[in-house]
Amino acid sequence: MADLIVWAPAKVNLHLEVLGQRQDGFHELAMLMQSIDLVDALRLSPTADGALTLSCDDPGLPVDGDNLIVKAAALLRSRAGLPELGARMHLQKRIPVGAGLAGGSSDGAAALVGLNSLWGLGLPEAELLELAARLGSDVPFCLAGGTQLCFGRGERLEPQDAAGAAGLAVLLLKHPQASVSTPWAYGRCRELRQASYLHSEADFAQRRDALRRSPLLLALREGVQAPGTFPPLRNDLQAVVEPEVASVQAGLALLRRLKQPLAVAMSGSGPTVFALFEHLDQALEAQAGLAAAIESDGFASWACRLRGRGVSLEG
Ligand code: C5P
Repeated sequence: MADLIVWAPAKVNLHLEVLGQRQDGFHELAMLMQSIDLVDALRLSPTADGALTLSCDDPGLPVDGDNLIVKAAALLRSRAGLPELGARMHLQKRIPVGAGLAGGSSDGAAALVGLNSLWGLGLPEAELLELAARLGSDVPFCLAGGTQLCFGRGERLEPQDAAGAAGLAVLLLKHPQASVSTPWAYGRCRELRQASYLHSEADFAQRRDALRRSPLLLALREGVQAPGTFPPLRNDLQAVVEPEVASVQAGLALLRRLKQPLAVAMSGSGPTVFALFEHLDQALEAQAGLAAAIESDGFASWACRLRGRGVSLEG
């Protein structure tokens, strides 16, 4: 068997609405998630000895059983009932860690898809999505990718036609030392906003419907109609995280100085902030225009296109 390379793309949240608290402790969400062309690469080689080993070009990343790639591999092997299966796995990390871009979740999704192929298991996507949901709330989206509404705790997917979003691009900013813990952000959200949480399934369903019929989805389907008319993005965690994290404030302030973006927001639980543009050229131009400020504020930046699919095998 030959080596296999799997691409694991990052995501941004174009909409993240916290609806309420669930019985299982998670939050009930209504999100619009979008894959982007910032991609990790996972190389898989078969081994004959049943060992599952992971290495990474980023020495700061744990490569033990805490890593979602290793968890995904063990879960898939146990689902297959074939403990003798092994793999040597190497991750080329491009997506920043602890950034709100679902890099770890996408790596876990890549391991499921890649090892399903490497080991010749032939599990259908529906079954991989079920395993993905056990690994984390964002892992099913990362596996399927593209443009999707994500409900429940994030794992209930509704794929969207986003033909009008095909050429769109983002400029991302993140301070290399900054990271936000997702449990902390949701915990803080509960402290600050619990009084306004919804409680009934009927109220949740009404908000899901509102998102399905939102101007944002219409704009992604039909394209940008006129400059200045793109609907604003919403991220309920931004209101919680922005006052507490200086680099989120500084990043948003930089992006809001730009003339051309369609919209500006924080992704997920942060601290990455992004501006959405009609074309990659504009995102690159904005990156060049802000270069001095990006450097003096110590940000890392990425300009890339939106991407129409999630995890994929090379070739
Ligand atoms: O599912 P995942 O492991 O990515 O979630 C990480 C943490 O984020 C959870 O333990 C929980 O604190 C918070 N979370 C939440 N509601 C969600 C998703 C995540 O409260 N829908």
